Amino acid sequence: MFSIRSFVIAALAAGVLASPVAERATCTVNSVDSAKNLSSCTDVVIEAFTVPSGQTVSIAAKAGATITMKGSVSFAKTTSAGPLLTIDTDNVKFAGNGYSFKGNGDLYWDGKGTNGGTTKPHPFLKFKGYGTFDNFIVKNSPAQAISIGTTGGAATFSKVLVDNKDGDASSLGHNTDGFDCSADDVTITNSKVYNQDDCLALNKGKNMKFTNNYCSGGHGISIGSIATDHSVSGVTISGNTVVDSMYGMRIKVQQSASNAAVSDVTYSGNTISGIDKYGFLVSQSYSEDFGTPGTKSKISGINFTGSQTTIAVNDKSVRVGVDCGNCSGTWDFSKLKVTGGKDSKIVKGGATISGGTY
Ligand SMILES: *[C@@H]1O[C@H](CO)[C@@H](O)[C@H](O)[C@H]1NC(C)=O
Ligand SMILES: *[C@@H]1O[C@H](CO)[C@@H](O)[C@H](O)[C@H]1NC(C)=O
Ligand SMILES: *[C@@H]1O[C@H](CO)[C@@H](O)[C@H](O)[C@H]1NC(C)=O
Repeated sequence: MFSIRSFVIAALAAGVLASPVAERATCTVNSVDSAKNLSSCTDVVIEAFTVPSGQTVSIAAKAGATITMKGSVSFAKTTSAGPLLTIDTDNVKFAGNGYSFKGNGDLYWDGKGTNGGTTKPHPFLKFKGYGTFDNFIVKNSPAQAISIGTTGGAATFSKVLVDNKDGDASSLGHNTDGFDCSADDVTITNSKVYNQDDCLALNKGKNMKFTNNYCSGGHGISIGSIATDHSVSGVTISGNTVVDSMYGMRIKVQQSASNAAVSDVTYSGNTISGIDKYGFLVSQSYSEDFGTPGTKSKISGINFTGSQTTIAVNDKSVRVGVDCGNCSGTWDFSKLKVTGGKDSKIVKGGATISGGTY
């Protein structure tokens, strides 16, 4: 028989009337609504769900939280602006367990990327906060896949797969950058990118490591494009493999950029093949590959040291392009070997380049 008294006792026993700010240990995200307030969650479990059109998800858990995927998240075709998913948690331990974020890019792709045609949400995923991000898949991002804007501490991304291979069909995938990074103290390692634009685009930041990754089908490993007032310094690019791409590796500074700088970039032990335009390109005339270089931003300290970097380019590709208007210092290219294609074009713009075979 119903009794108010027994209801109250049961409710108290269940903690319903207890402190309203009790810390929730494990929180389950299996819908857009369930992700809305995770500020007290130390342990977030993501289960499979679909994000409906017109909605986006932000996962902001308590600092130090663990976020664990136990299913894939699919995004319906949407007119929402990107990012469609933001992870914004300090000192997070994000474990993807091989599950996917499915962007359904094939529903948008028209060969025009973010330059026209169907409006494509971009970036697809945005990372803020900092911590470790391990073992997840991005499948078919509408345009740019992963934007790294971490702050507050070091961030390490490992075993990430960006799989936009489907965008190769009829050249419909475009501007599908793997990692776009504007942040300090970031490491990206043991990851794979199959796409149609930059594998990595490092736009600004210091102390960056890109190691032991695999890039296929895109525009290679890029620093830049560097815009006015932006600087990149202290970069290690080592042990990577780039295949079947427009460029192997590039440093691109916008022709009009002023007060910008790229300094202290070390390349070591990269293996690159099947390149169509330039094996390695340093350009201060971007968006041209090789034009009239700008002079209001500077590039210094570009070295190929440690283990040999080998680049094999296709017949029509230039082996190395250096198009400098304002470059300086001695660049040690002794561990660079480039074969095939057409002769290198070198305009040093103030730098001294020593060693290497190209
Ligand atoms: C989020 O949840 C916490 C307790 O878990 C609460 O204190 C806070 O007011 C909530 N914030 C919002 C915006 O609902
Ligand atoms: C090179 O760029 C730096 C940084 O923007 C600037 O201070 C310097 O004047 C430039 N040098 C030349 C020769 O234009
Ligand atoms: C690059 O090589 C030059 C010439 O050996 C050297 O002076 C410079 O310190 C090196 N830069 C880095 C970042 O290792």
